[in-house]
Amino acid sequence: MPMSHLMTDANRGVAEKLLKWTEDLSTGIGVIDDQHKELFKRVNSLLSSMSQGKGKEQVAAVLGFLSDYVVTHFGTEEQYMGAHGYPGLQAHKGEHASYVEKLSRLRERFDREGQSSLLAIESQRLLVDWWLNHIGKTDKALGAFLKAKGI
Ligand SMILES: [Fe+2]
Ligand SMILES: [Fe+2]
Repeated sequence: MPMSHLMTDANRGVAEKLLKWTEDLSTGIGVIDDQHKELFKRVNSLLSSMSQGKGKEQVAAVLGFLSDYVVTHFGTEEQYMGAHGYPGLQAHKGEHASYVEKLSRLRERFDREGQSSLLAIESQRLLVDWWLNHIGKTDKALGAFLKAKGI
């Protein structure tokens, strides 16, 4: 099978699995939920530009646009945790730091290698699965704690 077909198949897989915000992902904290919705928009625009085979510069720009907002968002949650004495702060911050690290490695690889089907599949894990898992467990636990504090 020519390489172009492999890439098309892999990219189609990415395109099918966009992030969708649903009520079961709500943390109960409006500011955090709104930021998650914005993050999903930015992740989806990255996935779309990858699956549409947009140029390297354009994909790199969308990747940067996402990375900036990731930093903003993690900062917001960490501020909440610090201000309210959240006992899970260190572990939660650790997950954030590890994500920032992975995202920056993805950016480096993309700059070096450009788009490939393998990168598309690996990105999927980082861009879709990670968020659903982190919000579903770690952020929801933070939300429940903040709610109990009357935030
Ligand atoms: Fe978080
Ligand atoms: Fe979050």
